[in-house]
Amino acid sequence: MGSLGWERSFMGWGVLLAFVLILKPAGASTHESSAVEIPRKFLEDAKSKEVRDWMVAVRRRIHENPELGFEEFETSKLIRAELDDMGIPYRHPIATTGLVGFIGTGKPPFVAIRADMDALPMQELLEWEHKSRIPGKMHACGHDAHVAMLLGAAKLLQQKRETLQGTVALVFQPAEEGGGGAKKMVEAGILENVEAIFGIHVSFQAPIGTVTTRPGPLLAGNGFFEAVISGKGGHAAIPHHTIDPIVAASNVILSLQHLVSREADPLDSQVVTVSKFNGGGALNVIPDSVTIGGTFRAFSKESFTHLKQRIEQVITLQAKVQRCNATVNFKEPFFPVTVNNEDLHKFFLDVGSDMLGSESINSMQPLMGAEDFSFYGEEIPGYFFFVGMKNETQGQFQPGHSPYFRVNEDVLPYGAALHASLAVRYLLEHQPEVTSPVNSSNSHDEL
Ligand SMILES: *[C@@H]1O[C@H](CO)[C@@H](O)[C@H](O)[C@H]1NC(C)=O
Ligand SMILES: *[C@@H]1O[C@H](CO)[C@@H](O)[C@H](O)[C@H]1NC(C)=O
Ligand SMILES: *[C@@H]1O[C@H](CO)[C@@H](O)[C@H](O)[C@H]1NC(C)=O
Ligand SMILES: [Zn+2]
Ligand SMILES: [Zn+2]
Repeated sequence: MGSLGWERSFMGWGVLLAFVLILKPAGASTHESSAVEIPRKFLEDAKSKEVRDWMVAVRRRIHENPELGFEEFETSKLIRAELDDMGIPYRHPIATTGLVGFIGTGKPPFVAIRADMDALPMQELLEWEHKSRIPGKMHACGHDAHVAMLLGAAKLLQQKRETLQGTVALVFQPAEEGGGGAKKMVEAGILENVEAIFGIHVSFQAPIGTVTTRPGPLLAGNGFFEAVISGKGGHAAIPHHTIDPIVAASNVILSLQHLVSREADPLDSQVVTVSKFNGGGALNVIPDSVTIGGTFRAFSKESFTHLKQRIEQVITLQAKVQRCNATVNFKEPFFPVTVNNEDLHKFFLDVGSDMLGSESINSMQPLMGAEDFSFYGEEIPGYFFFVGMKNETQGQFQPGHSPYFRVNEDVLPYGAALHASLAVRYLLEHQPEVTSPVNSSNSHDEL
């Protein structure tokens, strides 16, 4: 790992940061200084053959050996080996396979950048040299690329560790796909002292070299429910001797459709989907019970809580109408709404534009998909965005969770440079207030 070599071509990182810090007390934004150069320089370094090829190799190794949520033992080992190589200390294990690396002064401010490590329980159908070697498991969401990007950022930041004005926490978490690994990381205390956290997801729709994002609610809150509707089974030809749970469940499902169409504000997007219906087998038997289940989504805590409460009521009460009993179970944890902090959005627009040009930062509609990044955002200001992979000259890219999902590896330098730039610029722009040596907390007495 050689020097990235901008010291020679540029005015020098240390001088640059000193310059920024001198400007800071005068209330100047770092924008007026050469801090604007940082993101472009990082991108240049990330695109260098050395760094890029290394990230590609890391990503392919992870792609070949996909591991499901909380089972990312080899992935975690690979990450630790790379961090060891770079001389970056880390805390491990957290939430079974997770880890957090640290670069910088070891002192505040602390800023976190995050990657998820888990794969999906599905068979890869794309034939290529680095296809998944584990039958029935695949990195079909790009989390292999997310890990490579964060390691890439670690490499860029470690080169500049002497000049960092605080500490960057590299968060590698398990089990994003439904397991709520982020919640376990939060419970392990990884956000203590951390002021802000950034997360990236690859996007098959956004062109390479662009990002898409929005302030405020970005991804929906997500819950799953399952209900057993019990009646009394019997002969299909003698319905009056039975209590038919199939008809009861059917009415329950129709009633659930009215929660969004009749009770939700049309301008407040929500979804209730029944995706599971299991009951009966024989064509001449009415079964004892039926199991139904599904998902519900909303963009505010209030709407989400309301939906949850009404789903339970509608299922139990509607089942009663048909003389059945119902029990409803909700799968924990619920994924909260992913909300992008407004101040971090302004900050992101600055940093992103400095790297890619403002024309490459595109606004997007909220998505009904969910992300467990939201667990971090519940604790501290968080910011999540999508980095584009689409390049028409490289053919069609499939959406996440497709068995033909493919990562455009040209995206790796962008992700790495964005992570590193956001971290460095965040620390620069969030230096602790200069307090006078005299006890300044006295001034708070007036409040
Ligand atoms: C429903 O529950 C009540 C009270 O436990 C019980 O008396 C009744 O038999 C149950 N009905 C069915 C269809 O299971
Ligand atoms: C798109 O892909 C082509 C072919 O690999 C490549 O030459 C070009 O540089 C790519 N465009 C961008 C913006 O990366
Ligand atoms: C500053 O003032 C606060 C309350 O006025 C006091 O509790 C604290 O000990 C003081 N600290 C120093 C360093 O004097
Ligand atoms: Zn996914
Ligand atoms: Zn994902």
